[in-house]
Amino acid sequence: MTTRRQFFGYAGAAAAGAAATGGAVVALDNNSDTGTPVSRTISPYGDHQAGIARSAPAVAELVSFKLGTDRAGLGRLMRLWTSDLVALADGRAAPGDTAPELAVASKSVTVTVGFGPRVFEVTGQRPPGLDDLPVMKHDRLQPAWSGGDLLVMVGADDAVSVVHAVRRLIADAKPFATPLWRQTGFWDSTGPDGEPVTGRNLFGQVDGTGNPVFGTPDFDRTVWSADGPDWFRGGTTLVVRRIRLNLDTWDELTRSEQERAIGRKLSTGAPLTGTAEPDELDLEARDADGRLVIAQNAHARLSHHSENDGRRIFRKGLNYVHDTGATRESGLIFLSHQADVASQFLPLLARLDAVDALNEWTTTIGSAVFALPPGFQPGGWLGQSLLS
Ligand code: HEM
Repeated sequence: MTTRRQFFGYAGAAAAGAAATGGAVVALDNNSDTGTPVSRTISPYGDHQAGIARSAPAVAELVSFKLGTDRAGLGRLMRLWTSDLVALADGRAAPGDTAPELAVASKSVTVTVGFGPRVFEVTGQRPPGLDDLPVMKHDRLQPAWSGGDLLVMVGADDAVSVVHAVRRLIADAKPFATPLWRQTGFWDSTGPDGEPVTGRNLFGQVDGTGNPVFGTPDFDRTVWSADGPDWFRGGTTLVVRRIRLNLDTWDELTRSEQERAIGRKLSTGAPLTGTAEPDELDLEARDADGRLVIAQNAHARLSHHSENDGRRIFRKGLNYVHDTGATRESGLIFLSHQADVASQFLPLLARLDAVDALNEWTTTIGSAVFALPPGFQPGGWLGQSLLS
């Protein structure tokens, strides 16, 4: 679903935006969340892959593959996937679809494709900084959720559209690549009145406020590669971390302990030093006892760009649950886009791993890194600039 909110990035400013435009529909570029498109069919064409510069889809599945072909085979697969994703975005059955009735229009279907680090051993021209992340002290990585040579991430308004699209893409990949892991998640960014909101993770926190705002130079600088090899201009990288949340021990905390761990209020997502979600953090403020209001180890302080030499990332979350019999694991599929993994993401991750208050209730069990090639125009195909 694409709305005014994504233009502003958070609920508070969305309200201001609605007031400023009188609630009018602003039809802008349908390839990114810079306005309100007239329908929920998201054009797959553009300078960037269409699923990236927008907030997390209501439902998404990520599939990581092991590549079993050479450079020419990878090119064939990319042409095949491109024609699939154009059809799927449009709500048309892709060639060979065994359940064509499940291809439905206006479901905001996006398919995002990425290349894992090993692909560049075959193709050359590796984007700078693209390597598997080193294992962090708190990581408990499981091979079942880690790594991979190719990624497809399908997002849509509903689970049926996602499952259908993934089935088609996996079927077409069969001669070239084998699934390694699959993860499904969900995100709710609609408020009770139907207005867009930032969305919450399963800790109950408003999650996504501090992101750079779509369509700003800040966003573009953070996300799109400008310095890498020519083929990668307009591409980005994606870090996927599967993070288990220990809801049992989290629930034992008082509300104020929970808020102190992050540095923001649970009710509104406002900083503990402010009153509304978009308020800037006051990292110097102290309470009557002289204690920092936003604690030294609070997640929002440690990850703030002002504390990280200006480093920024663009995060999306997908909540997940994983049931084994009657036992449920809950967590967050943490997704981070940045132009360069090594220089933007890794220092932030290392800092959080060392001292973040949240570490007590979170454990990363999966990790993967991908380069997402730029978008394509009608007649072109994904990855063409690398593989043709
Ligand atoms: C399960 C683990 C995590 C949870 C529950 C979580 C939750 C949150 C929440 C609630 C906020 C404050 C609201 C917001 O700005 O969105 C936040 C901010 C942020 N988080 Fe996380 N986060 C997690 C892991 C990570 C990781 C692994 C990174 C990066 C390595 C990260 C980077 C950031 C950044 C950059 C901000 C914005 C800071 C700002 O500029 O205000 N988070 N996170």
